[in-house]
Amino acid sequence: MCFSCVASLKIFGYCCNRVLPTGQGGGRDYRAALCTELKQPLTVEEVAPSPVGPREVRVDVHFCGVNFADILVCRGQYQERPHLPFTPGMEFSGTVLETGTDVSTVKEMLWQIPEKVSLREAAALPISYTTAILALEHRARTQPGETVLVTAAAGATGLAVIDVATNILQAKVIAVAGSDEKCKLAMQRGAQFCVNYNQGSLKEAVRKLVGSGGVNVAIDMVGGDVFLEALRSLAWEGRIVVVGFTGGNIASVPANLLLLKNISAMGIASGQYRDKNFPVLSKTLSSALQYCQQGCIQPHVGTLFKLEEVNDAFLHVMQRKSMGKVLLSPK
Ligand SMILES: NC(=O)c1ccc[n+]([C@@H]2O[C@H](COP(=O)([O-])OP(=O)(O)OC[C@H]3O[C@@H](n4cnc5c(N)ncnc54)[C@H](OP(=O)(O)O)[C@@H]3O)[C@@H](O)[C@H]2O)c1
Repeated sequence: MCFSCVASLKIFGYCCNRVLPTGQGGGRDYRAALCTELKQPLTVEEVAPSPVGPREVRVDVHFCGVNFADILVCRGQYQERPHLPFTPGMEFSGTVLETGTDVSTVKEMLWQIPEKVSLREAAALPISYTTAILALEHRARTQPGETVLVTAAAGATGLAVIDVATNILQAKVIAVAGSDEKCKLAMQRGAQFCVNYNQGSLKEAVRKLVGSGGVNVAIDMVGGDVFLEALRSLAWEGRIVVVGFTGGNIASVPANLLLLKNISAMGIASGQYRDKNFPVLSKTLSSALQYCQQGCIQPHVGTLFKLEEVNDAFLHVMQRKSMGKVLLSPK
């Protein structure tokens, strides 16, 4: 595809410093949410645009995903620690405004959005859906008919796991969430059962649902005791995937449990695939885009905030009020 042939091209992808945000042709300043001091509110400022390099594109950003990890980065509690000041963010969608002299196609961290996928949906795919597909398929090798337990099930990653497990992999999902309202949403989005883990033992609730046999796969976003209860809910040859620690505690794995039931415990750090195995990441995101285009999956955008409301968006996530994907719109 030749960029000079198209007036504007819808793209989405992972945020990286090679993609320049909107500057309307390089002349005007653009607005950016900046973290100037860790653990302090972000500021929204006008920033002068940099010139577009030969292999760069300038993007008019329409939507950015707000991820739990963005907040950790701004608190200095994430594995990646950018130099201050920085603009947090890991995913976005938008239209190409300007291209460098050597650019003839989009590749690496950008993907073209097909007609049937909206900019809003596209912004919700890179982190949550890539992680869900990698966790369920690439790591846990989930099979049709198997039972998947997912914690923080009404969150962005949780709902993506439900969507992919039920609609792509034909697995049965037991959702686990912290309120009845969240359980209701998880059920509406395809979970067969939902357990509110604020109302008693998760392991006992799962036993009542599936019997002593247990579940085949557990995808855990919470960590701590919730991880341990999910581990204890696994069936013979069950697989548990560590995705995150929203609860703030990292559990130690009792190795005897792995031995007794031939269990596999594994992790997923989807961002690592960018450097360690890019073809897997690229294939996964292309699959998510294709599933979305075919209407097989439907990302759930829970709340849309304006760029100026970025601190409210962060608070919304940290106070566990968010359900599905939280997006920011600079428009
Ligand atoms: N490893 C990877 O590649 C990867 C990729 C994406 C995300 N993640 C991680 O996965 C986790 C979930 O991400 P997300 O974007 O899906 O988050 P999210 O949409 O904000 O969902 C987070 C949910 O975690 C639950 N939670 C439990 N204890 C909590 C606490 N003390 N504080 C806040 N929330 C708590 C809450 O649901 P309930 O009220 O239902 O408990 C909350 O809604 C994060 O740790 C994130 O960093 C990892």
